[in-house]
Amino acid sequence: MSFNPEKMDLPPRPQLFDFHGVSMTHYFTDNWENVQNFQARPDDILIATYPKAGTTWVSYILDLLYFGQMAPEHQTSIPIYERVPFLELSESIGNSGTELANNLPTSPRLIKTHLPVQLVPKSFWEQNCRMVYVARNAKDNMVSFFHFDRMDMSEPEPGDWNNFFQRFLDGKMVFGSWYDHVNGWWKKKQTYSKLHYMFYEDLIEDTGWEIDKLCCFLGLSPSAEEKKQILACVQFDNMKNNNMTNYSTVPFMDFNISPFMRKGKVGDWKKHFTVAQNEEFDEDYKKKMKDPPLQFRTEI
Ligand code: PPS
Repeated sequence: MSFNPEKMDLPPRPQLFDFHGVSMTHYFTDNWENVQNFQARPDDILIATYPKAGTTWVSYILDLLYFGQMAPEHQTSIPIYERVPFLELSESIGNSGTELANNLPTSPRLIKTHLPVQLVPKSFWEQNCRMVYVARNAKDNMVSFFHFDRMDMSEPEPGDWNNFFQRFLDGKMVFGSWYDHVNGWWKKKQTYSKLHYMFYEDLIEDTGWEIDKLCCFLGLSPSAEEKKQILACVQFDNMKNNNMTNYSTVPFMDFNISPFMRKGKVGDWKKHFTVAQNEEFDEDYKKKMKDPPLQFRTEI
Protein backbone atom coordinates (compact mmCIF):
# COMPACT_ATOMS: atom_id res chain seq x y z
CA MET A 1 0.00 0.00 0.00
CA SER A 2 1.34 3.46 -0.75
CA PHE A 3 0.53 6.76 0.94
CA ASN A 4 -1.32 9.44 -0.93
CA PRO A 5 -0.10 12.73 0.52
CA GLU A 6 -2.92 14.65 -1.19
CA LYS A 7 -5.69 12.68 0.43
CA MET A 8 -3.72 11.64 3.50
CA ASP A 9 -5.24 8.18 3.28
CA LEU A 10 -2.82 6.76 5.77
CA PRO A 11 -2.91 3.05 6.47
CA PRO A 12 -3.30 1.94 10.07
CA ARG A 13 -0.20 2.01 12.23
CA PRO A 14 1.94 -1.08 11.69
CA GLN A 15 2.45 -3.94 14.15
CA LEU A 16 5.80 -5.03 15.51
CA PHE A 17 6.97 -8.55 14.76
CA ASP A 18 10.11 -10.55 15.29
CA PHE A 19 12.50 -10.44 12.33
CA HIS A 20 15.71 -12.47 12.77
CA GLY A 21 15.50 -11.78 16.50
CA VAL A 22 14.89 -8.02 16.10
CA SER A 23 11.54 -6.21 16.44
CA MET A 24 10.56 -4.67 13.13
CA THR A 25 7.61 -3.38 11.13
CA HIS A 26 6.91 -4.34 7.55
CA TYR A 27 8.07 -0.92 6.36
CA PHE A 28 11.64 -2.08 6.91
CA THR A 29 11.32 -5.70 5.84
CA ASP A 30 9.10 -5.52 2.71
CA ASN A 31 12.13 -4.79 0.54
CA TRP A 32 14.44 -7.16 2.39
CA GLU A 33 15.70 -9.11 -0.61
CA ASN A 34 16.93 -5.93 -2.27
CA VAL A 35 18.39 -4.70 1.01
CA GLN A 36 20.36 -7.87 1.61
CA ASN A 37 21.54 -7.98 -2.01
CA PHE A 38 22.42 -4.28 -2.08
CA GLN A 39 25.73 -3.74 -3.87
CA ALA A 40 27.80 -1.30 -1.88
CA ARG A 41 30.69 0.53 -3.53
CA PRO A 42 34.06 0.94 -1.86
CA ASP A 43 33.58 4.69 -1.37
CA ASP A 44 30.03 4.45 0.04
CA ILE A 45 29.69 5.86 3.53
CA LEU A 46 27.15 4.21 5.80
CA ILE A 47 25.64 6.38 8.55
CA ALA A 48 24.29 3.98 11.16
CA THR A 49 22.34 4.77 14.30
CA TYR A 50 19.63 3.50 16.59
CA PRO A 51 16.54 5.59 15.70
CA LYS A 52 16.54 9.12 17.15
CA ALA A 53 20.24 9.21 18.02
CA GLY A 54 21.24 12.08 15.70
CA THR A 55 21.11 10.49 12.23
CA THR A 56 19.79 13.58 10.48
CA TRP A 57 22.33 15.82 12.16
CA VAL A 58 25.32 13.71 11.11
CA SER A 59 23.82 13.05 7.67
CA TYR A 60 23.59 16.78 7.08
CA ILE A 61 27.13 17.38 8.36
CA LEU A 62 28.50 14.76 5.97
CA ASP A 63 26.38 16.01 3.09
CA LEU A 64 27.68 19.55 3.59
CA LEU A 65 31.27 18.37 3.95
CA TYR A 66 31.14 16.48 0.67
CA PHE A 67 28.68 18.41 -1.45
CA GLY A 68 28.03 21.79 0.22
CA GLN A 69 30.46 23.60 -2.10
CA MET A 70 30.06 21.40 -5.14
CA ALA A 71 26.27 21.32 -5.38
CA PRO A 72 24.89 24.18 -3.25
CA GLU A 73 21.58 24.17 -5.19
CA HIS A 74 20.82 20.70 -3.80
CA GLN A 75 20.79 22.18 -0.32
CA THR A 76 17.66 24.15 -1.10
CA SER A 77 15.85 21.74 -3.40
CA ILE A 78 16.40 18.14 -2.26
CA PRO A 79 15.38 17.01 1.23
CA ILE A 80 18.07 15.35 3.30
CA TYR A 81 16.23 12.01 3.28
CA GLU A 82 16.66 11.90 -0.51
CA ARG A 83 20.27 13.06 -0.46
CA VAL A 84 21.00 10.41 2.17
CA PRO A 85 18.65 7.49 1.44
CA PHE A 86 17.35 5.29 4.23
CA LEU A 87 18.53 1.91 3.00
CA GLU A 88 15.94 -0.47 4.48
CA LEU A 89 12.89 1.76 3.96
CA SER A 90 10.49 -0.01 1.62
CA GLU A 91 8.56 1.55 -1.23
CA SER A 92 5.33 1.52 0.80
CA ILE A 93 6.30 4.99 2.09
CA GLY A 94 7.73 6.43 -1.13
CA ASN A 95 10.73 5.36 -3.16
CA SER A 96 12.52 2.49 -1.54
CA GLY A 97 15.86 3.20 0.09
CA THR A 98 17.68 0.80 -2.21
CA GLU A 99 16.17 2.45 -5.28
CA LEU A 100 17.12 5.92 -4.09
CA ALA A 101 20.63 4.77 -3.20
CA ASN A 102 21.09 3.05 -6.56
CA ASN A 103 20.00 6.22 -8.34
CA LEU A 104 22.16 8.60 -6.34
CA PRO A 105 24.28 10.61 -8.75
CA THR A 106 26.78 11.58 -6.06
CA SER A 107 30.07 10.06 -5.14
CA PRO A 108 30.59 9.09 -2.42
CA ARG A 109 27.08 7.91 -1.74
CA LEU A 110 25.93 8.69 1.79
CA ILE A 111 23.53 6.01 3.00
CA LYS A 112 21.53 5.91 6.23
CA THR A 113 20.61 2.78 8.17
CA HIS A 114 19.10 1.93 11.55
CA LEU A 115 19.93 -1.74 11.20
CA PRO A 116 21.64 -3.52 14.05
CA VAL A 117 25.15 -4.45 12.99
CA GLN A 118 24.38 -8.13 12.32
CA LEU A 119 21.75 -7.21 9.70
CA VAL A 120 23.90 -4.83 7.62
CA PRO A 121 24.12 -6.13 4.02
CA LYS A 122 27.35 -8.04 3.56
CA SER A 123 28.60 -6.03 0.59
CA PHE A 124 29.33 -3.07 2.91
CA TRP A 125 31.82 -5.28 4.78
CA GLU A 126 33.17 -6.88 1.62
CA GLN A 127 33.79 -3.46 0.09
CA ASN A 128 35.41 -2.28 3.32
CA CYS A 129 33.15 0.81 3.36
CA ARG A 130 33.59 3.56 5.89
CA MET A 131 30.86 3.73 8.49
CA VAL A 132 29.87 6.41 10.97
CA TYR A 133 27.87 5.23 13.97
CA VAL A 134 26.14 7.74 16.25
CA ALA A 135 24.98 6.68 19.70
CA ARG A 136 22.85 8.66 22.16
CA ASN A 137 22.30 8.02 25.84
CA ALA A 138 19.38 5.65 26.36
CA LYS A 139 17.27 7.98 28.48
CA ASP A 140 17.15 10.85 25.99
CA ASN A 141 17.01 8.39 23.12
CA MET A 142 13.90 6.82 24.65
CA VAL A 143 12.17 10.18 25.13
CA SER A 144 12.94 11.28 21.58
CA PHE A 145 11.67 7.94 20.25
CA PHE A 146 8.45 8.29 22.25
CA HIS A 147 7.61 11.69 20.78
CA PHE A 148 8.59 10.49 17.32
CA ASP A 149 6.27 7.49 17.55
CA ARG A 150 3.45 9.79 18.62
CA MET A 151 3.80 11.96 15.51
CA ASP A 152 4.95 9.48 12.85
CA MET A 153 1.95 7.48 11.67
CA SER A 154 4.20 4.88 10.06
CA GLU A 155 5.45 3.88 13.51
CA PRO A 156 3.65 1.43 15.82
CA GLU A 157 1.16 2.97 18.25
CA PRO A 158 3.35 4.29 21.10
CA GLY A 159 0.75 3.93 23.88
CA ASP A 160 1.25 6.09 26.94
CA TRP A 161 4.63 7.01 28.38
CA ASN A 162 4.61 4.28 31.07
CA ASN A 163 3.87 1.64 28.51
CA PHE A 164 6.52 2.97 26.14
CA PHE A 165 9.08 3.05 28.96
CA GLN A 166 8.56 -0.68 29.61
CA ARG A 167 8.69 -1.56 25.95
CA PHE A 168 11.99 0.28 25.56
CA LEU A 169 13.49 -1.66 28.47
CA ASP A 170 12.20 -4.88 26.93
CA GLY A 171 13.72 -3.99 23.53
CA LYS A 172 10.31 -4.16 21.85
CA MET A 173 10.97 -1.16 19.62
CA VAL A 174 11.37 -0.83 15.87
CA PHE A 175 15.00 -1.89 15.19
CA GLY A 176 15.07 -3.78 18.46
CA SER A 177 16.82 -3.18 21.71
CA TRP A 178 18.84 0.03 22.19
CA TYR A 179 21.18 -1.98 24.43
CA ASP A 180 21.90 -4.61 21.77
CA HIS A 181 22.26 -1.95 19.08
CA VAL A 182 24.84 0.29 20.74
CA ASN A 183 26.76 -2.72 22.12
CA GLY A 184 26.69 -4.60 18.82
CA TRP A 185 28.16 -1.69 16.89
CA TRP A 186 30.65 -0.95 19.67
CA LYS A 187 31.91 -4.52 19.55
CA LYS A 188 32.26 -4.31 15.77
CA LYS A 189 34.45 -1.25 16.15
CA GLN A 190 37.05 -3.39 17.92
CA THR A 191 37.65 -5.47 14.77
CA TYR A 192 36.56 -3.21 11.90
CA SER A 193 38.88 -0.23 11.59
CA LYS A 194 36.74 1.79 9.18
CA LEU A 195 34.06 2.45 11.78
CA HIS A 196 33.91 5.85 13.49
CA TYR A 197 31.80 5.67 16.68
CA MET A 198 30.41 9.02 17.83
CA PHE A 199 28.18 10.23 20.66
CA TYR A 200 25.28 12.66 20.37
CA GLU A 201 26.29 14.25 23.67
CA ASP A 202 29.79 15.02 22.34
CA LEU A 203 28.25 16.64 19.28
CA ILE A 204 26.11 18.84 21.49
CA GLU A 205 29.06 19.76 23.68
CA ASP A 206 31.49 20.65 20.91
CA THR A 207 30.16 20.28 17.38
CA GLY A 208 33.31 21.78 15.82
CA TRP A 209 35.61 19.30 17.49
CA GLU A 210 33.42 16.37 16.46
CA ILE A 211 33.44 17.64 12.86
CA ASP A 212 37.25 17.82 13.03
CA LYS A 213 37.40 14.20 14.18
CA LEU A 214 34.98 13.17 11.44
CA CYS A 215 37.13 14.95 8.84
CA CYS A 216 40.19 13.17 10.15
CA PHE A 217 38.40 9.82 9.79
CA LEU A 218 37.16 10.68 6.29
CA GLY A 219 40.42 12.25 5.11
CA LEU A 220 38.79 15.64 4.48
CA SER A 221 40.28 19.06 5.12
CA PRO A 222 37.68 21.79 4.73
CA SER A 223 38.87 25.40 4.83
CA ALA A 224 38.25 27.42 7.99
CA GLU A 225 35.56 29.38 6.14
CA GLU A 226 33.84 26.23 4.93
CA LYS A 227 33.88 24.74 8.41
CA LYS A 228 32.41 27.95 9.83
CA GLN A 229 29.57 27.80 7.31
CA ILE A 230 28.89 24.13 8.05
CA LEU A 231 28.85 24.79 11.78
CA ALA A 232 26.24 27.50 11.30
CA CYS A 233 24.04 25.37 9.01
CA VAL A 234 23.95 22.42 11.41
CA GLN A 235 22.91 24.38 14.49
CA PHE A 236 19.64 23.04 15.87
CA ASP A 237 17.59 26.17 15.14
CA ASN A 238 18.87 26.44 11.60
CA MET A 239 18.07 22.81 10.87
CA LYS A 240 14.66 23.22 12.49
CA ASN A 241 13.90 26.17 10.21
CA ASN A 242 15.27 24.50 7.10
CA ASN A 243 12.56 22.65 5.15
CA MET A 244 15.19 20.42 3.59
CA THR A 245 16.33 19.10 6.99
CA ASN A 246 13.29 19.37 9.26
CA TYR A 247 11.15 16.66 7.61
CA SER A 248 8.24 19.08 7.17
CA THR A 249 7.80 17.68 3.66
CA VAL A 250 6.85 14.21 4.95
CA PRO A 251 3.05 13.70 4.85
CA PHE A 252 2.74 11.00 7.50
CA MET A 253 4.41 13.04 10.24
CA ASP A 254 2.01 15.17 12.27
CA PHE A 255 3.91 18.22 13.47
CA ASN A 256 0.85 19.33 15.45
CA ILE A 257 1.61 16.41 17.75
CA SER A 258 5.39 16.93 17.88
CA PRO A 259 7.96 18.37 15.46
CA PHE A 260 10.75 16.18 14.05
CA MET A 261 13.33 18.70 15.26
CA ARG A 262 11.87 18.65 18.75
CA LYS A 263 14.32 19.87 21.42
CA GLY A 264 17.81 18.70 20.51
CA LYS A 265 19.02 18.59 24.10
CA VAL A 266 20.83 16.37 26.56
CA GLY A 267 18.85 15.77 29.75
CA ASP A 268 15.28 16.21 28.52
CA TRP A 269 14.62 12.76 30.03
CA LYS A 270 14.41 14.43 33.45
CA LYS A 271 11.12 15.99 32.39
CA HIS A 272 9.70 12.54 31.56
CA PHE A 273 11.12 9.93 33.93
CA THR A 274 9.49 9.58 37.33
CA VAL A 275 11.82 8.93 40.28
CA ALA A 276 10.67 5.31 40.36
CA GLN A 277 11.22 4.91 36.62
CA ASN A 278 14.70 6.36 36.92
CA GLU A 279 15.58 3.86 39.65
CA GLU A 280 14.14 0.97 37.68
CA PHE A 281 15.98 2.13 34.57
CA ASP A 282 19.36 2.46 36.34
CA GLU A 283 19.04 -0.96 37.96
CA ASP A 284 18.17 -2.61 34.66
CA TYR A 285 20.89 -0.63 32.82
CA LYS A 286 23.63 -2.01 35.09
CA LYS A 287 22.62 -5.54 34.19
CA LYS A 288 22.50 -4.91 30.45
CA MET A 289 25.52 -2.63 29.95
CA LYS A 290 28.51 -4.62 31.09
CA ASP A 291 31.18 -3.18 28.76
CA PRO A 292 32.95 -0.53 30.88
CA PRO A 293 34.61 1.39 28.00
CA LEU A 294 31.18 2.16 26.48
CA GLN A 295 30.09 5.06 28.66
CA PHE A 296 27.19 7.43 28.02
CA ARG A 297 26.50 10.82 29.52
CA THR A 298 22.90 11.56 30.50
CA GLU A 299 23.77 15.18 31.30
CA ILE A 300 26.52 17.56 30.29
S1 PPS B 1 15.60 9.49 12.89
O1 PPS B 1 14.13 9.62 12.66
O2 PPS B 1 15.92 8.23 13.59
O3 PPS B 1 16.38 9.66 11.67
O4 PPS B 1 15.93 10.68 13.89
P1 PPS B 1 17.39 11.23 14.22
O5 PPS B 1 17.76 12.24 13.22
O6 PPS B 1 18.32 10.11 14.46
O7 PPS B 1 17.18 11.91 15.63
C1 PPS B 1 16.33 13.02 15.83
C2 PPS B 1 16.81 13.68 17.10
O8 PPS B 1 18.02 14.40 16.84
C3 PPS B 1 17.82 15.76 17.16
N1 PPS B 1 18.63 16.63 16.29
C4 PPS B 1 19.49 17.55 16.76
N2 PPS B 1 19.87 17.84 18.02
C5 PPS B 1 20.76 18.86 18.17
N3 PPS B 1 21.25 19.59 17.14
C6 PPS B 1 20.91 19.31 15.87
N4 PPS B 1 21.39 20.04 14.87
C7 PPS B 1 19.99 18.23 15.64
N5 PPS B 1 19.42 17.69 14.54
C8 PPS B 1 18.59 16.71 14.96
C9 PPS B 1 16.33 15.96 16.96
O9 PPS B 1 15.88 17.16 17.54
C10 PPS B 1 15.80 14.71 17.63
O10 PPS B 1 15.99 14.73 19.04
P2 PPS B 1 14.86 15.26 20.08
O11 PPS B 1 15.43 14.94 21.44
O12 PPS B 1 13.61 14.52 19.81
O13 PPS B 1 14.76 16.73 19.87
